[in-house]
Amino acid sequence: MSQRILVTGATGRTGGGAVATLLQQGHEVRALVHHDDDRSARLAADGVDIVVGDLLDFDAVSRATKGIDAAYFVHPIAPGLLDATATMLQAAEDNDVRALVNMSQISARRDAGSNAARQHWLSERLLDHFPGAVTHLRPTFFAEWLYIFADHAAGELRLPFADARHAPIAAEDQGRVIAAILADPGPHAGKTYPLHGPVELDHHQIADAVSRTLGTPFTYVPISIDEFRADLARQGHNPHRIQHLANVAVDYRNGIFAGTNDIVRTVTGVEPLTVEAFVDRNRDQFAVR
Ligand SMILES: NC(=O)c1ccc[n+]([C@@H]2O[C@H](COP(=O)([O-])OP(=O)(O)OC[C@H]3O[C@@H](n4cnc5c(N)ncnc54)[C@H](OP(=O)(O)O)[C@@H]3O)[C@@H](O)[C@H]2O)c1
Repeated sequence: MSQRILVTGATGRTGGGAVATLLQQGHEVRALVHHDDDRSARLAADGVDIVVGDLLDFDAVSRATKGIDAAYFVHPIAPGLLDATATMLQAAEDNDVRALVNMSQISARRDAGSNAARQHWLSERLLDHFPGAVTHLRPTFFAEWLYIFADHAAGELRLPFADARHAPIAAEDQGRVIAAILADPGPHAGKTYPLHGPVELDHHQIADAVSRTLGTPFTYVPISIDEFRADLARQGHNPHRIQHLANVAVDYRNGIFAGTNDIVRTVTGVEPLTVEAFVDRNRDQFAVR
């Protein structure tokens, strides 16, 4: 049955993936978009009902949640997650929204070194008070990291991950998980899903997979966490994000991001993308600019 679904972060990676799947499946989709721009115009052209507003603006979130059956809540790594959580929680409850899917992360825990990861854990605990169904998603690192952090001209991936491992998961696969839960929240109520890609690899193996798929050399260059922090500062990342990324690098080395499971396939009926398949589908993102 067609549901009325709100997707926040709809111009972003996981929200965009969720919208695409929900539209294919014939649901009525509303997007809360941060900015009125080309990306929101494309969503409107695809038939998405657009509400422009900030996740911190209670009036905007109230308008966005009116008449909605289920909503996807995602906030970027930026200050404001707990304010945005309280705003969504109250607006959704006021408007009798029946289900929320919450984007958290695998490093979310009470004593996380990353401020953002600890706030994700607190956000989960706040959302546990929602009277409807709540599902928390705790992905490992996204496959999108591979092009976001790559030095494409040098064919290098400079990261402080030593020889620890994870199974990169594509936002596209997470979009399918989010859409499946929003469309039928009952079986997922009260669940916390760690999300992984299909194959756990260290970054040397990941770089080899990228290299094989692109047919050009691509190398992992292990760096220290201090070098990583300095690289991020040079690239203009804000202090909140740098604090987060430096601390999850410690978590990564300690195995917090490791593992794999069959949740994507079980929830969606679709196998998640391998690194090779992800790179093949996103060749343009790996092109030297
Ligand atoms: N990247 C990873 O490896 C990883 C791993 C695990 C978990 N996560 C979690 O994934 C989440 C990010 O998801 P994503 O990658 O799908 O996001 P994303 O691609 O960064 O997109 C963020 C979206 O939120 C919108 N937005 C930002 N600030 C907003 C505000 N104040 N009000 C309304 N909308 C706002 C953005 O719109 P504009 O672009 O117009 O601002 C954009 O559409 C984070 O919570 C992070 O902890 C990430």
